Amino acid sequence: MTSLIVNGRAVEIDVDPDTPLLWAIREQIGLTGTKYGCGIGQCGACTVHIDGVAVRSCSVLAADVAGKAITTIEGLAENAAQHRLQRAWIDHDVPQCGYCQSGMLMAAAALLAEKPHPSDQDIDEAISNICRCGTFQQAREAIHAAAK
Ligand code: FES
Repeated sequence: MTSLIVNGRAVEIDVDPDTPLLWAIREQIGLTGTKYGCGIGQCGACTVHIDGVAVRSCSVLAADVAGKAITTIEGLAENAAQHRLQRAWIDHDVPQCGYCQSGMLMAAAALLAEKPHPSDQDIDEAISNICRCGTFQQAREAIHAAAK
């Protein structure tokens, strides 16, 4: 058994040693907000936080993050209220198809935790997530709005 701490809750799961965290989160724990895109650490759809750092969960083994604090999009909102980034995302109509957005939000949240007032360059460097709808400019505007 592997002990994970997901969104502040301890969970015990039975996973193979080579199971990526992404699949443990989606299939074992049932939190499907974290998405599968490429599976090779390129697209960012699977981004979660591990001890507050944005990490691509397809490229991390579940067994390697036992005991660390894992936050998924389901845990981003505090006390059932939307995170300020989620409100800004809605206000700025960022999502189009929506598939990549949970990963992008998690990357943005990690950026704001590290840099409360990021520049465009900071955003472009931190948010390397791929969005096929091309929502990058709206996301940039929403991050600046959430940073105010
Ligand atoms: Fe993990 Fe694309 S699914 S980076």
